[in-house]
Amino acid sequence: MTPRSCLTVILAAGEGTRMKSSLPKVLHNIAGLPIVAHVAKAVHGAGVRDIALVVGKGGNQVEAAVRSVVSSVTVHEQTERLGTAHAVLAARESIAREYDDILVVFGDTPLIETAALDQARSKLADGVDVVVMGFRPAVPNGYGRLIEQDGRLIAIREEKDASEAEKKIGFCNGGLMALRGQTALALLDKITNDNANNEFYLTDVVEIANADGKSVVAIEISPDNVIGINTRVELAEAEAIWQTRKRRDMMLAGVTMQAPETVFFAHDTLVEADAILEPNIIFGPGVSIASGAVIHAFSYFEGAKIGANANVGPFARLRPGADLAAKSKVGNFVEVKNAKVGVGAKVNHLTYIGDAIVGPAANIGAGAITCNYDGYNKHLTEIGANVFIGSNSSLVAPVSIGDNAYVASGSVITANVPADALAFGRARQEVKEGRAVQLRARYAAQKLAKKAD
Ligand code: UD1
Ligand code: CA
Repeated sequence: MTPRSCLTVILAAGEGTRMKSSLPKVLHNIAGLPIVAHVAKAVHGAGVRDIALVVGKGGNQVEAAVRSVVSSVTVHEQTERLGTAHAVLAARESIAREYDDILVVFGDTPLIETAALDQARSKLADGVDVVVMGFRPAVPNGYGRLIEQDGRLIAIREEKDASEAEKKIGFCNGGLMALRGQTALALLDKITNDNANNEFYLTDVVEIANADGKSVVAIEISPDNVIGINTRVELAEAEAIWQTRKRRDMMLAGVTMQAPETVFFAHDTLVEADAILEPNIIFGPGVSIASGAVIHAFSYFEGAKIGANANVGPFARLRPGADLAAKSKVGNFVEVKNAKVGVGAKVNHLTYIGDAIVGPAANIGAGAITCNYDGYNKHLTEIGANVFIGSNSSLVAPVSIGDNAYVASGSVITANVPADALAFGRARQEVKEGRAVQLRARYAAQKLAKKAD
């Protein structure tokens, strides 16, 4: 059986004034990914490759966000906002391309799950013409109500047009729909704006399809799936739901978390089974953690790769390009940026490693710093295998320390150190026998004289 072709129309022409933002609503992030990109990702997960994106004025950024997750995108501009059906018809050219299935989703419902889209499409495959995704919200106010008869969906009544009896219905329109491609355009073209808002309502397609003898059903999906974001409060609530789902997925996939509610993932975080995440860890985008790694509390990662059985934190900060090899150790108050830390290397305390390569089994002492930036350019520090860098040393890049070399504590290293060498880069210590006694006597006398004044 050849798979059914499918086009998803994403409606994202809304302005989102209630966000009180200069950024279009659908570009606000959840788990570091724009809302609309979450929608596109779910669509992609349902095996749908083609997307028709309906944007308002200045939709370039919205388009870019969608293209960051799917490649086959056609953009349609809806210049006037005349309702959801009007918005869908802005994508007329794409819809006319004879797809088996047409999905209509909203760009501001980031928690839609692939499973719900699959469920709707399977109804189309069974021969249904119009599938409406319904849900039962705790409070139905504001939603269109689903009016059913004998398992068929007869109509969707927008709240403003609903009678008192209809308002009592708890089964509501989530807004998302699936339409048989063959008949979609003909049905959509019959929608008028004859209602309380003078808008072209997509929901009217239900009555029109029924009048045309088509089959229309509502499926019930979980309320999370259709949460729309209108305010920053709803944005935070959606983020919380997303995080809860992700934590659960992670734990079921073998990741240990003692206090999952304190760990915050990014949309693309990868953690292998048997990694351990202690409380209070924050992931920015682009982080992967291999099996057996232990991440101690209060760590913050972004664009970093953590190898198998590595040990990181507490209070570690890994910035983009940090690449920790297996069994390496990065301890408390250590920052690593654009640097490879070799197998079994240790960077245990109070250190900055930036633009560097740290060889296997090297040991970087407390407070050692790579001085990678001269105010204009970044420079590389190379540290060989088995090197020992004494505490509180500054490695002024570009500089390289050969294998098995030893740098004395407190050194400022400005020149390359060959393999097996010992480098001191500090003033020689002087000791004056008995001088502390003289010094104290002098200071005490001065203090006495001052009091007498
Ligand atoms: C819609 C449904 C309602 C459902 C609710 C679920 C209709 C007529 N009503 O109402 O039954 O219960 O969603 O949340 O469909 N949009 C455009 N261009 C337009 C109008 C809307 O792109 O001209 C986009 C919006 O940006 C938004 C989506 O379509 O992403 C839904 O529009 P909105 O005005 O929020 O519909 P609701 O009134 O919430
Ligand atoms: Ca809405």
